[in-house]
Amino acid sequence: MRRPFIAGNWKLHKTTAEAVTLVKALEAGLADVTDRDIVVAPVFTVLTSVSSALGDSNIAVAAQNCFPEMQGAYTGEVSPLLLKDAGCRYVIVGHSERRQLFGETDGFINRKLKAVVDTGLTAIFCVGETLEEREQGRTFEVLEKQLRGGLENLLRDAMARVVVAYEPVWAIGTGKTASAAQAQQAHAFIRDLLSRLYDADLACRIRIVYGGSVKPDNVDGLLSQQDIDGALVGGASLKAEDFIRIVRFLP
Ligand code: G3P
Repeated sequence: MRRPFIAGNWKLHKTTAEAVTLVKALEAGLADVTDRDIVVAPVFTVLTSVSSALGDSNIAVAAQNCFPEMQGAYTGEVSPLLLKDAGCRYVIVGHSERRQLFGETDGFINRKLKAVVDTGLTAIFCVGETLEEREQGRTFEVLEKQLRGGLENLLRDAMARVVVAYEPVWAIGTGKTASAAQAQQAHAFIRDLLSRLYDADLACRIRIVYGGSVKPDNVDGLLSQQDIDGALVGGASLKAEDFIRIVRFLP
């Protein structure tokens, strides 16, 4: 059985004080939950404060992005090594907002993935189609291109440090959740592709989580699907009560 994985992507929200208050509330509300991985992904500037506030709690910290080099003349960038130093165990890579707003390509995402896993961190690798691509019947083609490109030359062992997040772009921040059946179909496709790219054993073990308007009232339906192993939550992860319910699969 795959261990459920629930992460909150806070995007560009929360000051240091707000972030610490939120994780303290999450810590108190989730202290007894030991059968799933719980992760929060704050903005860079609050990572250290959030990591220190969480100490050795059952909630881990992720960064929302990174640069694929460890050091050098890269003004404004942050390396996986520094993220590890700031207390992160995970890094989100290839989020659709990075792809769309910052022009990130599959090749660049591939470099980031390698840098993240080489540093001993786990990548939360996002893929997903736009509404236009779905309406053109190109969902699987797009997912395959993103997965093949992002994972190019990533060895089987390194895949132990990858969680795949299926985030249909049309469901992000729109209130439109993919139906459980739509999400399951995409997850099953991704798992099958991973079986072809690697092998059946790896495909069976790797976690594939869903993101896109996940809320307390739809999490249970999504998570009860065979190939959906967790959630990457945006808006609803900003309120302690909602995120706690999501982590507990409670409506
Ligand atoms: O990474 C999480 C995400 O993009 C989904 O955001 O607000 O639709 O839950 P949201």
